[in-house]
Amino acid sequence: MCGIVGYIGTQDTKEILLKGLEKLEYRGYDSAGIAVMNESGVHVFKEKGRIADLREVVDNDVLASTGIGHTRWATHGVPSKVNAHPHQSTSGRFTLVHNGVIENYSQLKREHLQGVELVSETDTEVVVQIIEKFANEGQHVEEAMRRTLSILKGSYAIALLDNEDPETIYVGKNKSPLLVGVGKGDFNVVASDAMAMIQVTDQFVELMDKEMVIVKKEAVTIKKLNGEIVERAPYTAELDASDIEKGTYPHYMLKEIDEQPLVIRKLIQKYQNENGELTIDVDIINAVNQSDRIYIVAAGTSYHAGLVGAQMIEKLAKVPVEVHVASEFNYNMPILSEKPLFIFISQSGETADSRAVLVQVKELGYPALTVTNVQGSTLSREADFTLLLHAGPEIAVASTKAYTAQLGVLSIFAAVLAESKGHNLEFDLVQDLGIVANAMEVLCDAKEELEDIARKFLATTRNCFFIGRTMDYYVGLEGALKLKEISYIQAEGFAGGELKHGTIALIENGTPVIAISTQEQVDLSIRGNVKEVVARGANPCIISMKGLETEEDSFVVPPVNELLSPLVSVIPLQLISYYAALHRDCDVDKPRNLAKSVTVE
Ligand code: F6R
Repeated sequence: MCGIVGYIGTQDTKEILLKGLEKLEYRGYDSAGIAVMNESGVHVFKEKGRIADLREVVDNDVLASTGIGHTRWATHGVPSKVNAHPHQSTSGRFTLVHNGVIENYSQLKREHLQGVELVSETDTEVVVQIIEKFANEGQHVEEAMRRTLSILKGSYAIALLDNEDPETIYVGKNKSPLLVGVGKGDFNVVASDAMAMIQVTDQFVELMDKEMVIVKKEAVTIKKLNGEIVERAPYTAELDASDIEKGTYPHYMLKEIDEQPLVIRKLIQKYQNENGELTIDVDIINAVNQSDRIYIVAAGTSYHAGLVGAQMIEKLAKVPVEVHVASEFNYNMPILSEKPLFIFISQSGETADSRAVLVQVKELGYPALTVTNVQGSTLSREADFTLLLHAGPEIAVASTKAYTAQLGVLSIFAAVLAESKGHNLEFDLVQDLGIVANAMEVLCDAKEELEDIARKFLATTRNCFFIGRTMDYYVGLEGALKLKEISYIQAEGFAGGELKHGTIALIENGTPVIAISTQEQVDLSIRGNVKEVVARGANPCIISMKGLETEEDSFVVPPVNELLSPLVSVIPLQLISYYAALHRDCDVDKPRNLAKSVTVE
């Protein structure tokens, strides 16, 4: 949510900042800005809209080798040029970009900024004004910033310019992600995500909460808020610049859908030992075996993956699992079992709702495992254990390959746990995941057919329902989320048996109902539910699995192990959503109002 970048060095900074912001657009894209500093002072360019809109207003004649930039997902204040970052103090001496939420900004304004006229509606402006106030009281900028950071409540990743010191970028971090990238002695950079600056360096230093960094072109000094210097070596970011390019694809979402077979094959490899057996760190399995119940906590698509994962774990390992929405669990913790173990599922590893639960869980002293795509992410660092998704960067806002990778990792986890408990698996998971990868390939080749389905059922509809039972119900929830977030069609997923308890009142002539049937045990029941909605005028689209198909079905997915069926049945839903959004001229990769990494509660 919001992305920040900074560069200090010898080259002109504008293009480096703009390219970096383009890579961070997944974090927010309602307005953007850069500030560059040279001997004539600080020059700020900002605009409502995308980075492409910002490019239009940047003055190419201004040359500067120090600068900061920001792409925004609005929290306080509407998306507008005035509310766009960077924000400046009244005198114009200080210029600041911020990612996060300053929870006590009203109180800070009351206590420190009486008589100061703020121009924006943002919480951020309060920060830059307080730094100026402390500096005006005679404090050095570093001290003024440290003092300001120590009174902020909430989350922040901040980069600050002082036009009296063009040789320095001041940086601060608490709860929001921030990295410092180390150059070859003549430049250094700042970024919310290594992806933004991978074109200039692959050496990054992680920052911890409540740290400040003084970034100069030839040196980086990390300090705690008490001034104590911290030594920390950089790590090499294992990011291939080509992973973050669209290549010949029109959208990242389509590229990421197509990458799914590869991701599953890579996962098998990553979790296999030298004997070809699937394996999970023994410390993780021991911790789970010492617990009496697993609590899965996640948000959105990752929550949907958790619902499927819980079934896998209960069915294979016979361990009870509860699945909770992070934002609710945070304020409404259920009565926990005696020895709980927590699993946080998060593509980004940065979701604030999930992190807030993790903080509570750690305070209570319970073990926690994070399943994430991002090594070194906050949730990964703060949990006891991590399992990686190895899906490569997911850039489209709508999650696709991370969802199937989450299911892949959870299936491996469930199988290894089952074996550790002496439960015999009646199938070979390596082989069955291989069959899944092959089936995914077949589905990715069925784009034309799925585009036709999208046109036939979704071209003009206002709403759409997804129904299924057991595993198919969970996939229906994910299908509905995909469709609504990128096509803006009102879509809801329901347990097939639940429709007649109220929702069926919404079925009208022509209402599309997408039914999923991959589970033999409930095939007849879900088909019965389809009959009920057809009797009330619905336009049914049945997606079944080979072996269960009938003539009335619209699409049939190749047969796979029923427990793994969500990994394949979700693909037609992803593609149908993609084409529905395309036909409606929606911005597939950057749907309105959303951001990829939700780092505010
Ligand atoms: C939907 C989507 C979101 C995320 C949710 C959690 O396509 O991507 O629902 O799943 O915001 O994000 P992570 O997994 O990063 O914790």
